Amino acid sequence: MLIRKYAAKDRKAVENIHFKVGITAYSMSRNPENKKTYSKLIEYHVTKEPESCFVLENDGKVAGYLVGCLDDRNYKDVWITVKACSDFLFRYFKLNKKDRRFFYCQIRTFFTALLGITPEFRVKKPKNAGHLHMNLLPECQGKGLGSLLIKRFLKYAKSKKVKAIHADAIEASFGNNKNFWIKNGFEIYSREETRFWKDIYPKEKMYIVCYYKKL
Ligand SMILES: CC(C)(COP(=O)(O)OP(=O)(O)OC[C@H]1O[C@@H](n2cnc3c(N)ncnc32)[C@H](O)[C@@H]1OP(=O)(O)O)[C@@H](O)C(=O)NCCC(=O)NCCS
Repeated sequence: MLIRKYAAKDRKAVENIHFKVGITAYSMSRNPENKKTYSKLIEYHVTKEPESCFVLENDGKVAGYLVGCLDDRNYKDVWITVKACSDFLFRYFKLNKKDRRFFYCQIRTFFTALLGITPEFRVKKPKNAGHLHMNLLPECQGKGLGSLLIKRFLKYAKSKKVKAIHADAIEASFGNNKNFWIKNGFEIYSREETRFWKDIYPKEKMYIVCYYKKL
C-alpha cells in the first residue's frame, strides 16, 4: 500500500471510485449509471488543483483517493452544480430511465435549496478554510488507510499555511462515517437534512454534515 500524490494518469481510476463509492457509499445499484455527469463534481480538484490530490495505491492500482482544495474561495460550488445540471439537461435523451430519475431529483433539490424551500444550502461552512473529499474502495476500508490518507493531506495543507479544513459527508441510517472524522480530530460544524437522494431512498432521512478541523 502506498500513498502518493495524484497524477493525471490516475483520473479515470479516481472517477471510477468516485462513481462507485462516492456520496451515498452503499446500494449503488439504485444510483445512476452515467459517470460523465457525476464526475463533474471532482473536476475542479483534478484539473485546477491536482497538487492537492492524493491517491492510495495497492498493487499498482488506485484503491482510494483524496481530492483537496486549499481555499474554498477558488471552488465555486454553486457554479459547479449548475454546470453538472446543464450537462445533464444537454444529454437528457441519451440517459436511461434510472439516470434521468437520479439527476432530475438532484436538479429539483438544487433549485428548491437555492430558493430556500429545502435546507441543503443552510449547511454552514467555515470561512477561510479549504476542504477535502475522499473515498476508498470497499476492500480497503476499515484498515486505517483512510486515516493515513487524511493525515498526509492535512500535513500538506498545514505546510501551505491553511488554517482549517472541512469535509461534507452524508449521514444516513445505512452509512454514517462520523466516527472517522471524530477520530481524525474533526468536529461537527453544521448539519442539515437533505432531499438530494429522496427519489432513490424515499423512506430514508439523510443529512449533509460539515465536519471541521483547525490546523
Ligand atoms: C470513510 C472512509 C474514507 C474512512 O476510511 P477508512 O480507511 O475506512 O477508515 P479507518 O480505517 O482509518 O478508520 C478510522 C476510524 O474511523 C471509523 N470509521 C471509518 N469508516 C467508518 C464508517 N464507514 N462508519 C463508521 N465508522 C467509520 C472507525 O471507528 C475507525 O476506528 P476503529 O478502527 O478504531 O474502529 C472510508 O471508509 C470510505 O471511503 N467510506 C465510504 C465512502 C465515504 O464515506 N466517504 C467519505 C465521504 S467524504
